[in-house]
Amino acid sequence: HRHLLGIEQLKPQDITQILDLAESYVDLNRQAAKHADVLAGLTQINMFFEASTRTQASFELAGKRLGADVMNMAMQASSIKKGETLIDTALTLNAMHPDLLVVRHPHSGAVDLLAQKVNCAVLNAGDGRHEHPTQALLDALTIRRAKGRLHRLNVAICGDIAHSRVARSNILLLGKMESRIRLIGPPTLVPAQFADMGCEVYDDMREGLAGVDVVMMLRLQKERMDGGFIPSEREYYHRYGLDAEKLALAKPDAIVMHPGPMNRGVEIDGTLADDINRSVIQDQVEMGVAVRMAAMELLAGNLAGSRVPA
Ligand code: CP
Repeated sequence: HRHLLGIEQLKPQDITQILDLAESYVDLNRQAAKHADVLAGLTQINMFFEASTRTQASFELAGKRLGADVMNMAMQASSIKKGETLIDTALTLNAMHPDLLVVRHPHSGAVDLLAQKVNCAVLNAGDGRHEHPTQALLDALTIRRAKGRLHRLNVAICGDIAHSRVARSNILLLGKMESRIRLIGPPTLVPAQFADMGCEVYDDMREGLAGVDVVMMLRLQKERMDGGFIPSEREYYHRYGLDAEKLALAKPDAIVMHPGPMNRGVEIDGTLADDINRSVIQDQVEMGVAVRMAAMELLAGNLAGSRVPA
């Protein structure tokens, strides 16, 4: 692969290859000296057109730990503010010969479009409600480490599925790896298309959580609701918020996940989110650095043969 645009383009063996390489970086990241210079001499540019804490920080750390020259574009201070288009911005940066471009954008498809215009590797750091492939990969690594496998697990993805690129990428990945997926949320936030993709759909948390191995909670993505359905937070928490009582219906060893940012008391009880016996939320963050190191190393290895003239 030349780019990492979505889970949709990956085969199960591609996913396993990234996760296996990421395992070695989990070990490296726990050492005092964290450097492996496999990207030495390469230039990585991070372009985030939307807010981020985890993804932006972990892509930056991943690049630095692999020895790349990493530049974070301050998009709020860029010439986008003066009306320059996304494509012109990308072409401008492309002329400076980056090797890896990491892009987050509020519009679905924007990162794919940009990838067609540049001659370096592009990694999608989240585009609209479309895909967030490195999030699904880090979630998969977290699940694999906790459960020992990715196949034949029952995974519940709960909440605002409709607006979530995290849900879409996870549904694609877990489906490819032969896990069973349950989607739980208010009918207005669970699109019918996912039932057609083989997911079981529930609007009752207690029914949906019964016997699952993994409970993945999602944030209400109010910024993507276009002024439409925004549930009352109190009512939402009552029906769809994860607390110890609802979690008791899952398997006794079920793990609790959340991609972050998290709204405590809206989709998840804060005490449960902090319970290290059940919650793997901080493990997800840790796996994020390792997975991004692995993804960038593998793409960099493909760069030499795939370059086209600027
Ligand atoms: N999970 C995730 O993408 O978090 P950020 O928006 O903070 O990057």
